Amino acid sequence: MRGLYVHIPFCAVKCFYCDFTAFSGQRAQVARYLRALRSEAERHRGLAFDTLYVGGGTPSELAEAEIRELFGSLPGPYREATFEANPESLDAGKRRALRDCGATRLSLGLQTADDRLLSAIGRKHTWDDFRRVYEACAADGFSVNVDLMYALPGQTLEQSDRSVDAVLALRPDHVSLYGLQVEDRTLFGKREVEVDEDLARAMFESALDRLAAGGLEHYEVSNFARPGRQSIHNRIYWRNGEYLGLGCGASSYLSGERLANLDRLEKYCSAVEEGRSPAAESERLEGRRALGETALLGLRLLEGLAWTPELEAAFPEERRHIEAQGWARLHAGRLRLTREGVFLANRAFAEFVAPFRSHPQPAEVLH
Ligand SMILES: C[S@@+](CC[C@H](N)C(=O)[O-])C[C@H]1O[C@@H](n2cnc3c(N)ncnc32)[C@H](O)[C@@H]1O
Ligand code: SF4
Repeated sequence: MRGLYVHIPFCAVKCFYCDFTAFSGQRAQVARYLRALRSEAERHRGLAFDTLYVGGGTPSELAEAEIRELFGSLPGPYREATFEANPESLDAGKRRALRDCGATRLSLGLQTADDRLLSAIGRKHTWDDFRRVYEACAADGFSVNVDLMYALPGQTLEQSDRSVDAVLALRPDHVSLYGLQVEDRTLFGKREVEVDEDLARAMFESALDRLAAGGLEHYEVSNFARPGRQSIHNRIYWRNGEYLGLGCGASSYLSGERLANLDRLEKYCSAVEEGRSPAAESERLEGRRALGETALLGLRLLEGLAWTPELEAAFPEERRHIEAQGWARLHAGRLRLTREGVFLANRAFAEFVAPFRSHPQPAEVLH
């Protein structure tokens, strides 16, 4: 299986917590960017893909005609095609375009159902805006994922529980749940926002129980789905499969090579326009490092990772260390995260996987 990821780095405004490759005030660059994406896709003509994931940034910032243009420049069809959207920018015309173009799945960013908290984290929609858009998407027949965050500044356990319950009442196919990470370059980072880890733990534990009772199976550190509704595209990442990433800041893993594209809009567009590769860096993963990647990605899946003699020979100390810490358990040939391990991984995966880590992970793999 091979996946195609396309990055749309435009946002109406930047949320206070977000460190993704996403720019506000760059609408004038959209036409140029879509042309660059078309040229970059042409560089890989001949490759076939099972899944598509259009992520951001905010893909729903594209106008209806731009959505049609984007899909028209990509190969297809796909077994699963996901499009990320923010509630304030997904109207009926765009949903129609998405259906016509073969999108099967929408990922809607909610973060919290509390209007005051939404505005405190820089979001431009209310719970009601979200609910209306969610219902329209479900009525159109899309499978919908809802992004939720916890451990937000000033958030109480009750507020976090209420958000989870409000989302469950909509009966979504899929929920992604992330603990707030305070990133240096964001407004929260500059304000030195702090997270109360005990409260974060209580919110996460409570959310796990509620989501399970609501029929959503916890299948990956941050992801929950109804039976048969897991994300096929993201499973390709976690199983360390092949994917091509198109666009500013996107990364790829093809034929054993990891590549990361330039993450400045101007530099990315110029490179493609001049017929150069937009990759800023590339490295071939072999031997122990390739195994380490397989281990750190595979551990994210709650079904665990087949712990082969090859992995044991490469990482005996690391495996003993995370077992001794109580973060994972080896049983019947599989290494699986414990509840403690899952919580740590949801809060700060990069630190948790340090033993297996060989280089920074692309953001879209972790989210
Ligand atoms: C690519 S982002 C945004 C997609 C879309 N633009 C939106 O805002 O809904 C995917 C998700 O990552 C999560 N996220 C982004 N920054 C985060 C942070 N600093 N800590 C925890 N989760 C974060 C949010 O839940 C967000 O919806
Ligand atoms: S969370 Fe989404 S809308 Fe907010 S800045 Fe990040 S990518 Fe843009």
